Amino acid sequence: MQRRNDAMRMPRIALLLALALCGVAHAGQVAQVASPDGRIAVQLDLDGDGRLAYRVQRDGKPVLADSHLGFVLRNGRQLLRNLTLDKQAQRSVDQTWEQPWGERRYVREHYNELRATLVEKDQDHRRFDVVFRVFDDGVGFRYDVPAQPALREAQIVQELTEFAVARPATAWWIPALQWNREEYLYHRTPLAEVGIAQTPLTLRTDDGLHLSLHEAALVDYAGMNLMREGNVLRAALTPGSPTPVVRATPFVTPWRTIAIADTAGGLVESNLILNLNEPNKLGDVSWFTPAKYVGVWWSLHLDEQSWATGPKHGATTDNTKRYIDFAAANGFRGVLVEGWNPGWDGDWFANGWGFDFTRPTQDFDLVGLATYGAGKGVHLIGHHETGCAVSHYERQLDAAFALDARNGIDVVKTGYVCDAGQIERQDAVDGPVLREWHEGQWMSNHNLRVLEAAAKRHIAINSHEPIKDTGLRRTYPNWVSREGARGMEYNAWANPPNPPEHEVTLVFTRMLAGPMDYTPGVLSLTGRGGQEIQSTLARQLALYVGLYSPIQMAADLPEHSAQHREAFQFIKDVAVDWDESHVLAGEVGEYVAIARKQRGAPLWFLGAMNDRTPRTLQLPLDFLDAGKRYRAEIYRDGAGADWHGEARFRFVREEKTVARGDVLSLWLAGGGGAAVRLVPLEDARAAR
Ligand code: NOJ
Ligand code: CA
Repeated sequence: MQRRNDAMRMPRIALLLALALCGVAHAGQVAQVASPDGRIAVQLDLDGDGRLAYRVQRDGKPVLADSHLGFVLRNGRQLLRNLTLDKQAQRSVDQTWEQPWGERRYVREHYNELRATLVEKDQDHRRFDVVFRVFDDGVGFRYDVPAQPALREAQIVQELTEFAVARPATAWWIPALQWNREEYLYHRTPLAEVGIAQTPLTLRTDDGLHLSLHEAALVDYAGMNLMREGNVLRAALTPGSPTPVVRATPFVTPWRTIAIADTAGGLVESNLILNLNEPNKLGDVSWFTPAKYVGVWWSLHLDEQSWATGPKHGATTDNTKRYIDFAAANGFRGVLVEGWNPGWDGDWFANGWGFDFTRPTQDFDLVGLATYGAGKGVHLIGHHETGCAVSHYERQLDAAFALDARNGIDVVKTGYVCDAGQIERQDAVDGPVLREWHEGQWMSNHNLRVLEAAAKRHIAINSHEPIKDTGLRRTYPNWVSREGARGMEYNAWANPPNPPEHEVTLVFTRMLAGPMDYTPGVLSLTGRGGQEIQSTLARQLALYVGLYSPIQMAADLPEHSAQHREAFQFIKDVAVDWDESHVLAGEVGEYVAIARKQRGAPLWFLGAMNDRTPRTLQLPLDFLDAGKRYRAEIYRDGAGADWHGEARFRFVREEKTVARGDVLSLWLAGGGGAAVRLVPLEDARAAR
């Protein structure tokens, strides 16, 4: 559905208003555009050298000071100086589009756009446009480089895009271009101590404004990192050969994005990234079913079973039957089985070229299991761990997805386990093997090749060790989830495991990019060798609401879930697809409470999570439908609960009757949380 009241020229009155709101124009100012509500203003400036800069204000106060734009090229002079404004145009769009699945059903896309055409004054008269879209929740801009004789191809060494943060700020960030890709704990530092960071990067200015710097629609381009100098963050493109990006003209870059909000929760509620992506290219995707899944997974990370064949092999016919039975008994749709295919024996980390995605191991009766599952309404979930031999994987793609489709497998988890920069690309069989980066231009294209091949077979993709999420799920709604951060697996085997701050930081950093396959629900709260997971029991339930994904794993072993029946009931009940989502409270890295309304049903779910400091949240239940009373099924930390030792398991389930206007008081333990299911009383009996 597309409701379009679109593309009329910006009314003159709005332009005048925007001009008035922008305050005093700078000497070199050549163009400006404001958000529909007039609070955000973007101005373009050309200095005496013909260098182009933009700046961003909110409520008349600078957010970004003059920030330069331009390119350093390998196959030509830098595209940077001697620019003049050839022309400019503005338009406004206000439309609402529908998500096939997501945190909310309808998304309003409302912005004012400025397109400025720059041309070099002398020599080759090379030209490019910068396009700014200014929304009430932030700004996106990109370069649009037309075909031209003096620039048939751009070999981009560096994109000179800057973000000159105008106010002192605290930053939450993970390092870029390090060996462990995106799987780091977040640093919280003054902006002045940021090194080379990945995006999304979150900032809170000392006067309380929240910003997220990221990118949207990363297609056929290198991922953008940010390198700090003073208070200026500069684009640092992920390496590639011969340069990070090689594009024939015409081309557009990804959108560079600045989400702006008064509160931390405002960043989470922003639709900026999705709105800057192209509409759905796949058409009807009702073949994808948002759902929960279980699988042969946690046992592998605990080292109780193995990916490799042999006595500990997890992906055997009998063991998988056990998981299918467990899924069927508890209403889970999917069963993920890792280690189902040849290639895991020996050192698979070092040899992705041994993986075969087109046939199962001898002790795994794929067809029999698919049939067995189908009889119980359970689908196998496929697994394609490439070990980074990506060209080897691409050669098998079609056959692999055909095998999946024949067996009712409609979600496939992919994996790219190797150090950053160690992706193996081989353009011709027997040709040289070149190394690429997970976030580089070649991998941005690889990811789309996988999505398109999968879509042809009505298969959805959940990528691990992925390229960063830039909202491409709008365009390719079969890209349903991904990893791209330190997930639950670190609680199985890492030292340190994920600390209590981690998940309440993810909500305001990594999750701003899109869904994450975090794999929550480890109710045993214990990793390998008895290592404690730094979470209470109730917190594991809150993760299902707090960390959005349309596919959610119930990650623990069936026998562990059976030991925590009361808590497990919430995992069985919780929805995965939503009509609405609202952040009720939150501070980056400290705590968060989110309410979501189940897609197509009158039920609400609430998840609250906490850092290591116990606190009580007073949550107004204003989101509930007026005039209805609800049974609140509350799963919360019990008295004395804490993220250490036996206190992790202190847990209470209770019920209350509540209505809109009530305030729910929730005590959260250190490392704790709460999960609430709200059922309208008239539906309560049916929903039992
Ligand atoms: C890393 C993934 O994140 C994990 O979920 C998976 O089990 C292993 N790779 C093996 O593919
Ligand atoms: Ca991983």
